[in-house]
Amino acid sequence: MQDNPLIVALDVDDEVQAIDIIEELAGLVKLYKVGLNLYLSEGDQILNIIKSLDKEIFLDLKLFDIPNTVKDACCQLAKKEVSMITLHTLGGKEMLKAAVDGVRHAETDKPPLLLGVTVLTSFDESFINEQLSSNKSLEEIAVELAILSKKCSLDGIVCSAKEVKAIRKAIGDDLLIITPGIRPKGEDVFDQQRIATPKQALDAGANYIVIGRPIIKAKDKRQATEAIYQEIG
Ligand code: C5P
Repeated sequence: MQDNPLIVALDVDDEVQAIDIIEELAGLVKLYKVGLNLYLSEGDQILNIIKSLDKEIFLDLKLFDIPNTVKDACCQLAKKEVSMITLHTLGGKEMLKAAVDGVRHAETDKPPLLLGVTVLTSFDESFINEQLSSNKSLEEIAVELAILSKKCSLDGIVCSAKEVKAIRKAIGDDLLIITPGIRPKGEDVFDQQRIATPKQALDAGANYIVIGRPIIKAKDKRQATEAIYQEIG
């Protein structure tokens, strides 16, 4: 994996827009996140294009199904030569172990890192309390899911920057922590709830920050990216 902590989310509809972004950010960004929208619209072709441009891929499909189905899906994804894949840790212990098994059984020289999504950064406390009827805090749940991820031998977790400190304390340095919901100072929050600046997230112990709209919707994407690098030093 790379030293550069920035992952840019290619949350666009098609390969033309994706390639435009990658070309505009040439020399600045190495790792790109491909999510459901772009993958469902372009399929493996977009992965091949990104690889041909000498970039790495975080394929963020957030799997969540019965253990056997997730095992088979992880085995398929592991053969795509991407650097990272994701699944929902709320799928539980059996599903997470099956996913690890799926990746291990794939015939590939370059297995991806398996990352567990804890609590989506678009959720706030009221989701946990009102919709899940739980008295626990969002942080407590995120920490529990991170511990479960470690027990199941995942390579890393995805969480809000707000929970990084507590999660690091609970799981130590073994797992990677990837944080979306990042907003450089003064930027539009959009639908994210538990946000932090790039520097706050990295200072708290995150290894990678995922940034989408503040870069891909910026008039000058290079300038927006350079400003982020300046902030994080
Ligand atoms: O545009 P923005 O910077 O909010 O994009 C964040 C990206 O990170 C999106 O692609 C979203 O799907 C993803 N993500 C997230 N929260 C998580 C996991 C992934 O926002 N917990």
